Amino acid sequence: MPAVGGIPAGGVPGREYPGKLTPFVTVTCIIAAMGGLIFGYDNGITGGVTTMDPFLKKFFPSVHGNKHENSSTNKYCRYNSEKLTMFTSSLYLAALLSSIVASTVTRKFGRKLSMLFGGVLFCAGAILNGFAQAVWMLIVGRMLLGFGIGFANQSVPLYLSEMAPYKFRGALNIGFQLSITVGILIAEVLNYFFAKIKGGLGWRLSLGGAMVPALIITVGSLVLPDTPNSMIERGKHDVAKKKLIRIRGVEDVEEEFSDLVAASETSKLVEHPWRNLLQRKYRPHLSMAILIPFFQQLTGINVIMFYAPVLFNTIGFGSDASLMSSVITGIVNVGATLVSIYGVDKWGRRFLFLEGGIQMLICQGVVTAAIAAKFGVDGNPGELPKWYAIVVVLFICIYVAGFAWSWGPLGWLVPSEIFPLEIRSAAQSVNVSVNMIFTFIIAQAYLEMLCHMKFGSFLFFAFFVLVMTIFVYFFLPETKNIPIEEMGRVWKTHWYWSRFVSNDEYPNVQMGMAAMEGLKNM
Ligand code: BGC
Repeated sequence: MPAVGGIPAGGVPGREYPGKLTPFVTVTCIIAAMGGLIFGYDNGITGGVTTMDPFLKKFFPSVHGNKHENSSTNKYCRYNSEKLTMFTSSLYLAALLSSIVASTVTRKFGRKLSMLFGGVLFCAGAILNGFAQAVWMLIVGRMLLGFGIGFANQSVPLYLSEMAPYKFRGALNIGFQLSITVGILIAEVLNYFFAKIKGGLGWRLSLGGAMVPALIITVGSLVLPDTPNSMIERGKHDVAKKKLIRIRGVEDVEEEFSDLVAASETSKLVEHPWRNLLQRKYRPHLSMAILIPFFQQLTGINVIMFYAPVLFNTIGFGSDASLMSSVITGIVNVGATLVSIYGVDKWGRRFLFLEGGIQMLICQGVVTAAIAAKFGVDGNPGELPKWYAIVVVLFICIYVAGFAWSWGPLGWLVPSEIFPLEIRSAAQSVNVSVNMIFTFIIAQAYLEMLCHMKFGSFLFFAFFVLVMTIFVYFFLPETKNIPIEEMGRVWKTHWYWSRFVSNDEYPNVQMGMAAMEGLKNM
């Protein structure tokens, strides 16, 4: 998902541009929220649907058979089916492919058209899924949704950060992540209720429900104006200025407008953004563009987001309790994201990353021990006591909270604020692609991993959480309260990354450091 609310286009932070919270901006927020909602909804809906009996019976009868077999078969493997995981994971592969095309469409034809494409693809995907009669319809439907996500997630965050007055950009950034978590929660709550409907209607309503935000995005993209930045990019300077006056609700937009034009000129000068990214001085940025999304997915969060009901069912909860438990984790996910919005500029990114990492690690240890104690390696738990269910759900919730105030929002916020303009779009594409590739791999491989690695599959993710926490401690500089155009300094003053930044960049940082050295030696 590109730059969730994040590419800071259209303004130099640190400068005061006049502007009000006009109806345009308000509508922008609503549309942006829909973009996040639909992504979250598609993330959260499959887990519950794949535990619904009528759905399994119709499309995956062998999984349905395993689920209801009372014999002593290994419980870890009851959902292991490649076709079933394909239903979840195909979306991310399609999103990866379409985000590559979408970046060109967004640049050449504007954000609006990209959003319209996204909306139409969403509608088609939701209809195909809701009326599915065969597995291929499910998978093609998920792929259409994925293509839509590629378009919407490329254009909505860009649209958002270009329309928003700069003062609201940071809040809107995590606001997008918040709406993803709300989308996941809505999906989980609907699954809980729709699962109670007898016959096949329940899962059809769950999957077809994606139509509601899809229609809002489609209609929204038809009535919304294009952003001034996008018009300037396509050479329409006069219309762009008039639009900016309307959007900001004030006449005095001269300074912002000339900065927008300057930013557009600068980005046109960059002929080879990809080759640029490979230069030595961008090594810190490229490393972060790859490692941050990689680590975010290797926390294992999507095992919970995609497969919580399956997982709870596997480890002995009834169907109803499984769906309810995933609603509980969904509520915690939303709540903890709010904590992040509150604290990110107060406590800083590093504190949240480190605290969240340690919290997730402890929980992964406890959950592994609880499951190992009851299921062992043969996957036969016998009678499960109540304390066991409480411990598992409690620690999974504490784990989700740890993610939701650290790697969840920061995994998108930090990359969006560290890339300088000349490499921003290329670095952001790397970030999004790496995220989608690992989301796909985990969605596709997890049920197989659970079957073979058993409770050890949790330790696999715990290992990575340990590595990423150590990585943050040593390698991630604090970016709190640093204007984007000054961001180069954080690398220059870093014990490791400074070696990649040449001395003639940020000369005053050099002088400051020399003065400090001088003082120390006195
Ligand atoms: C991640 C998603 C995840 C979601 C959970 C996002 O930041 O990118 O993969 O499903 O958080 O809330």
